Amino acid sequence: MNQTQMYKDPLFDLTDQVIVITGGGGVLPGALARGLAARGAKVALLNRTLAKATRVAAEIELQDGVALPLGCDVTDRTSLEQAARQVLDYFGQVDHLINGAGGNRPGAIAVQGQDFFDLPAGELRTVLDVNFTGALLASQVFGRHIAAQGQGSILNISSMAASQPLSRVVAYAAAKAAIDNFTRWLASTLAREISPDLRVNAIAPGFFIGEQNRALLLEDDGHVTPRGAAILQHTPMGRFGEPHDLLSTAIWLLSPGARFVTGVVVPVDGGFSAFSGV
Ligand SMILES: NC(=O)c1ccc[n+]([C@@H]2O[C@H](COP(=O)([O-])OP(=O)(O)OC[C@H]3O[C@@H](n4cnc5c(N)ncnc54)[C@H](OP(=O)(O)O)[C@@H]3O)[C@@H](O)[C@H]2O)c1
Repeated sequence: MNQTQMYKDPLFDLTDQVIVITGGGGVLPGALARGLAARGAKVALLNRTLAKATRVAAEIELQDGVALPLGCDVTDRTSLEQAARQVLDYFGQVDHLINGAGGNRPGAIAVQGQDFFDLPAGELRTVLDVNFTGALLASQVFGRHIAAQGQGSILNISSMAASQPLSRVVAYAAAKAAIDNFTRWLASTLAREISPDLRVNAIAPGFFIGEQNRALLLEDDGHVTPRGAAILQHTPMGRFGEPHDLLSTAIWLLSPGARFVTGVVVPVDGGFSAFSGV
C-alpha cells in the first residue's frame, strides 16, 4: 500500500472534509492543520492574530493543500458567527471542529502558594474564557451546522492538568478539567438527542514545547528548567512531545474508523498519565 492509498483507506479517509481549527495559527493546532490538509481535508484556520493563521495557510497552500485563514476571537460569539458565515460561504459545509485555541497567561500563574490569594480576577477569567468558554461557544456556533448535517465530530484539546492538577497553573487546570467534562456532556447530548453520528472527543497532550510554555520548560540556553526536568522524569518515554505526535490520534478520532467512539479523552503523553512516579 503506498502513502496515497493509505490516506484513501475508508476507515481513515478525510478527503474533502471541511475541518474548522480554532487557534489554527498556533504550534499544536497548526501542526494538526498541516497534517490534516496533507491528507486531503480542507481546513479553516481561526486565530486571534490573523497573521499567524495566514502563515500556516500559506505553508499548506505551498503543498497544494486547501486552507482558509480567518481572524477570530473564540471568546466572542459575534466573532465566531462571522467566521462561520465566512467558512460556509467559502466551503459550503462544516464537517468537524477542532477546539485548539487555548493556553495560559503569566499573570494567572501562582509561582508560590501565597500568590494564589492575589491572582488578579481578570487574568484568571481570561484563562478560563479562552480554554473553556471559547471551546463551548465555538461548539455552539459550528456544532449547529455540523448537527444540521446529521454527522460529523468535535475534537477538544485537553491537558495533563485536567485529571491531576499541575502546580501553579490553577485556572488553566480548572478550565481543562471543564473541557473533559464538557466533552462527555456534549458527546452524550448530541448522540442521544440529535444523531448517533455526531461525536465529541478530546486529545490530552502531554508536554510539548509551545510558545506559551517554552519559558516554563526551557532555559534561554535551551537546557531544561527544573520544572521541565521533573516532567521528563515523570514521562516514561523520557522526552517532550513533537507536534506531529498528535496527528494520528486526531485522524483516528475525526475519521469514519472512530464511528463508535464518542466522549473519550485520549492521552498522547509518552506515558505521563500512566506512571505513578514510583
Ligand atoms: N504545548 C503543550 O504542551 C500543550 C499541552 C497540553 C495542551 N495544550 C493545548 O493545546 C492547545 C494549543 O497549544 P499550543 O501549545 O500549540 O499553543 P499556541 O502555539 O499558543 O497556540 C494557541 C493558539 O490559540 C490562539 N488563541 C489564543 N486565544 C485565542 C482566542 N481568544 N481566539 C482565537 N485564537 C486564540 C493563539 O493565537 P494568538 O497568539 O493570536 O493569541 C495561538 O495561535 C491549547 O489549547 C493548549 O492549552 C498544549
